[in-house]
Amino acid sequence: MQELSRKTASFTDSVIRRMTRVSAKYDAINLSQGFPDFDPPAAITDRLAEVAHEGPHQYAITWGAQNFREALAAKQSPLMGIDIDPDRNVVVTCGSTEAMMCSVMTVANPGDRVVIFSPFYENYGADSILCGAEPTYVELHAPDFTFDEAELEAACARPSTKALILCNPSNPCGHVFSRDELLAIARIVERHDLYVITDEVYEHIVYAPDVHTYFAGLPGMAERTISCSSLSKTYSITGWRLGYVIATSEVTDRVKKVHDFLTVGAAAPLMEAAVAGLRLPRSYYDDLAALYAHKRSLFCDGLDRLGIAHVKPQGAYYVMCDISDFGYDSDEEFCVELCRRVGVGAVPGSCFFNAPENRFVRFHFAKSDEVLNAALERLAGWHDLMGRDA
Ligand SMILES: Cc1ncc(COP(=O)(O)O)c(C=O)c1O
Repeated sequence: MQELSRKTASFTDSVIRRMTRVSAKYDAINLSQGFPDFDPPAAITDRLAEVAHEGPHQYAITWGAQNFREALAAKQSPLMGIDIDPDRNVVVTCGSTEAMMCSVMTVANPGDRVVIFSPFYENYGADSILCGAEPTYVELHAPDFTFDEAELEAACARPSTKALILCNPSNPCGHVFSRDELLAIARIVERHDLYVITDEVYEHIVYAPDVHTYFAGLPGMAERTISCSSLSKTYSITGWRLGYVIATSEVTDRVKKVHDFLTVGAAAPLMEAAVAGLRLPRSYYDDLAALYAHKRSLFCDGLDRLGIAHVKPQGAYYVMCDISDFGYDSDEEFCVELCRRVGVGAVPGSCFFNAPENRFVRFHFAKSDEVLNAALERLAGWHDLMGRDA
């Protein structure tokens, strides 16, 4: 048979999903793959039960059902500080995953460069490669995961650079970009005439005193920003695969076509049910942030009590723990041992970095308090991993 595509030959399986399999093998509490183990809001699931009988069950408009786009525009316009026209500025996609892929495909030609902060969410490298674009990585420096303006400027100045991908709040490091950091990015992307493709799936999971600032809402940035996000994390419906792109009509006209050919559309009955979520009052989002603030305290305070060095996230629901003193050659080996001997699943941090890295493992805390307490009990065995041969 002929050779399969060279583009996809370099792909490995997702390390995150691999760690879920390792967790299952050792019956470990799986804090690797980040999704909630609690129910979505009743408003959404009750509506889903009605929709099962009422429909719709056939294709929606390819760029999203009218009432979904209207509810989304009404929710996001005041938050983002821009005037979102549901007919011109919104494309509903199958998760932020598809939103990001469509956006990179919309802006990048083969050979163009895309700037990505490292550590980064696994998909961005693949998005660029599938589009034939070349990633340029800019380091977010531990322990507070801030960037160096001169390094960002140099990356953006490289020939053929078309866009910068901005994950805010950041998975995996939990960094929430301050307004000043975003204004610095804005000055640089303006100077080099770049698009900014945002991934804001954790926009409602930010811990006081930090606040989420939408890049599109910064002065002069609406035109060059392609805002991607989703309902996965905000409404605990990661399996529904509902996301969206918000951008100028020049951009969405292209995104609509890419999206149509990739997937035709998001699931019509799920869009209909999710409208009930988009119409929830402001208090829903305050309660969600409070719920995760409680889980962050429970888990991070527990890590502190156990003497496990970690980064305190400003947003999202992940914690990077420091394993540099353990002397393992590979963080993946550490994570397998953690499953086998301690009974807790984590993700080796190296999969989030472009350069060789062996300092971190990542846990997520989007779990019930019982599960988090049980995981902390087991993590009392964390320091035993200093000796490898048990
Ligand atoms: C930063 C980030 N972007 C995108 C996604 C996937 O989002 P969706 O379910 O909307 O495709 C995740 C999931 O963990 C994520 O952490």
